[in-house]
Amino acid sequence: MFDTTIAEEVLIARWTGTVALICLLVSQLVTPVTPLFKNKAGWNRQKYKLRKYSGVSAAFFALLHAALLYVTFLEQDFSIIIEKQWLHAGAAAALIFSMLLITSVKRVIQWLGPLWKALHALSYSLWFLISLHLWGAPYAPFWAPSLTLGLGIVLLLARVLKFTWLNKGRG
Ligand code: HEM
Repeated sequence: MFDTTIAEEVLIARWTGTVALICLLVSQLVTPVTPLFKNKAGWNRQKYKLRKYSGVSAAFFALLHAALLYVTFLEQDFSIIIEKQWLHAGAAAALIFSMLLITSVKRVIQWLGPLWKALHALSYSLWFLISLHLWGAPYAPFWAPSLTLGLGIVLLLARVLKFTWLNKGRG
């Protein structure tokens, strides 16, 4: 018989985890799509806000997901996180999300200076960690890890190409 309590927990996992990933996708799409909107009035002013708030929302939902599932699915048993490799990947992603959230405060950004950019480049590694997390998650659809990994690769390539293109323009 299908256990309905598990079904509820899986739904919580699916909603919070997916919303976090959609917000992360939006925040990482802002920079590569900027050339398409460069003539649109207001885009340059709004893009920083869009990137920041979608990134903060991604971290918020990811941490909500981790906290809710720790209490429900894992019944507050930390040893399960230590035992299961797919949860190592989830926990590492949650740590990176926390670090990104703390370092999005204006004062911390000013204090970090150029180091901020390097730290925030770590956000691309989240796709790879979450792909590993989904690889082991017992109820995740079979296509979820490949889709997550694919999105991560496309976003990383888009970022690298935009960077190269900008540098060429300057040179
Ligand atoms: C310590 C941190 C984390 C813990 C304890 C945790 C725990 C879990 C658990 C118990 C599941 C349910 C298993 C399943 O659905 O098969 C799950 C699924 C999932 N997790 Fe996490 N997770 C963590 C971090 C993350 C992070 C940072 C993300 C990023 C967004 C994430 C995204 C997802 C997604 C998308 C699912 C798939 C749900 C599904 O479709 O079945 N998790 N997680």
